Amino acid sequence: MEKDFCCILYREPAIRAAIRRTARRLAQDYEGQTPVVVGILKGAAFFMVHLVQELDMLLEIEFVQSSSYGSALRSSGRIKRGLDTKFEAKGRHVLLVDDILDSGRTLSHFHAEFERRGAASVRSAVLFDKPGARKIPYEADYPGLTVPDVWLTGYSLDYKGLYRNCRFVGILRETARIQGLTRAHLRRLVSEKKTRND
Ligand code: IMP
Ligand code: MG
Repeated sequence: MEKDFCCILYREPAIRAAIRRTARRLAQDYEGQTPVVVGILKGAAFFMVHLVQELDMLLEIEFVQSSSYGSALRSSGRIKRGLDTKFEAKGRHVLLVDDILDSGRTLSHFHAEFERRGAASVRSAVLFDKPGARKIPYEADYPGLTVPDVWLTGYSLDYKGLYRNCRFVGILRETARIQGLTRAHLRRLVSEKKTRND
């Protein structure tokens, strides 16, 4: 599958190191609590598994499902809910987990929902954060790796439902073409990667 990509931003070791950094912060912040970790499918699947396995503490896992993109590269602005979770959120510490924070709509939607359901606290962890893409104000408590505002694919992130199983994340030749990214632009994104996550 790698041949379909024009550039790779992060490979598995860098991604797993970022997940371990987040896990260390979570272990401190949730010490003495039993949080409910709520993964937002499908994108959260890989991050969720790798994250909770790094946590040597009592926790529960739940999943919800949403989609707002269809096969487009821009959010439709509407959250389509799929699989739902009915656990008793009242008084619980809820940690929302998603693959990427983009427009902010998905996480702010679920954040508000769990507050309405009476959670004692609601926080969020994402593997990738695109701060340049926000359409509504929302920041994750655990933002992971900062990435540029271009369509990323791999490591749980899909393009038309495909490539989620790649062990790396990068930019597909096809989405680069659709987004009009030049070679110079792509080179700049890769070289800026280091400074973004210092
Ligand atoms: P938001 O609601 O716009 O913040 O987007 C959140 C959801 O959109 C994520 O859970 C992803 O499933 C999807 N998404 C956003 N940006 C990308 C991307 O660059 N690649 C793949 N999926 C993305
Ligand atoms: Mg998603």
